[in-house]
Amino acid sequence: MTEKDFLPQPYPATIDQGEVTWESPSNIALVKYWGKLKNQIPANPSISFTLDSCRTTTKLAYKKKEEVTDSFDFELYFEGEKKDAFRPKIQKFMERVEQYLPFLKDYEFTIETSNSFPHSSGIASSASGMSALALCLMSLEKQLNPEMEEEYFTRKSSFLARLGSGSACRSIEGELVVWGFQRNIYGSSDLYGVEFRDEVHDNFRNYRDTILLVDKGEKQVSSTVGHDLMNGHPFAERRFQQAHENLDRLKKIFRSGDLSEFIQVVESEALTLHAMMMTSQPYFLLMKPNTLEIINRIFKFREESGLHLCFTLDAGANVHLLFPEKEEKATLEFIERELKQFCQNGQYIYDKVGSGAKKLA
Ligand code: DP6
Repeated sequence: MTEKDFLPQPYPATIDQGEVTWESPSNIALVKYWGKLKNQIPANPSISFTLDSCRTTTKLAYKKKEEVTDSFDFELYFEGEKKDAFRPKIQKFMERVEQYLPFLKDYEFTIETSNSFPHSSGIASSASGMSALALCLMSLEKQLNPEMEEEYFTRKSSFLARLGSGSACRSIEGELVVWGFQRNIYGSSDLYGVEFRDEVHDNFRNYRDTILLVDKGEKQVSSTVGHDLMNGHPFAERRFQQAHENLDRLKKIFRSGDLSEFIQVVESEALTLHAMMMTSQPYFLLMKPNTLEIINRIFKFREESGLHLCFTLDAGANVHLLFPEKEEKATLEFIERELKQFCQNGQYIYDKVGSGAKKLA
């Protein structure tokens, strides 16, 4: 598919008003997206586990305008309160997707959104938030074009979510999603995320992700600034190539079920992401002392216990602790006993791999 396939034909139906609600999850990348080209095209492919309990719920109400205007008209509520601070992001999203959803200026929208995870927990809500909004808008488009096929609906939702925030395109489906073209991954595309359909060993079923909230403060580096750091970065080209290699390695690991190899790839990806930030101009150091404390304790405990927990990081100080379902009991005890003390107010979020976004009745 190309961008052109997402430009709609004239709609056969008309809709005056209605509402729709979608619940969409967050995701955690194993191979990281860091660096992008024009129009949110990723500089390298990435793969993520879709999460289960970290979700955004978005209700979109729409009413046809009585008189056509040349503006996007929407009201925005976050956790029950009017939130004008989020308006510019939504406005920009609407501008970006208008050519693919030409009805946007025909309606007045009310967007009501809330997150399952605590407000300002330092968890990025752009993946779950942008995917939920994209799905709501696609539900409206589907009403305008009732013949639309399921697969097209899913692809276009991911395509639109990507234009809102790159990683959001990996939040539509579960359980493993690839975004970015990779020669030997069937259906992979730079334009949208696709479910990873290759063989996956039982070791990776119901994989756990406990998010250790080390620092709940404002993001030090916005993603726009962050990705931009890869332009002209001395190690960029080699890094983009490495992401392809790591995705290849993971593909084999998902088949074999080799947890030790999995750990090597995932932790190296996390540290490479941070190494890219430390070696860019300007440079950023996003880990905190407690991030390092936690990582060192993970290394030590893994050595002593022979268990297969590992960490990954996003562009921040929080630590995602990944581990297999069957090692859950011992790992949770370890978190309570040793890691919790390094979390802000002892807070962590217990999550696991999930199956993707859901439309609510
Ligand atoms: C470190 O998707 O937030 O989480 O496309 O600018 O919205 P934008 O960036 P964003 O970047 C996420 C980067 C990451 C790695 C990843 O999720 O792959």
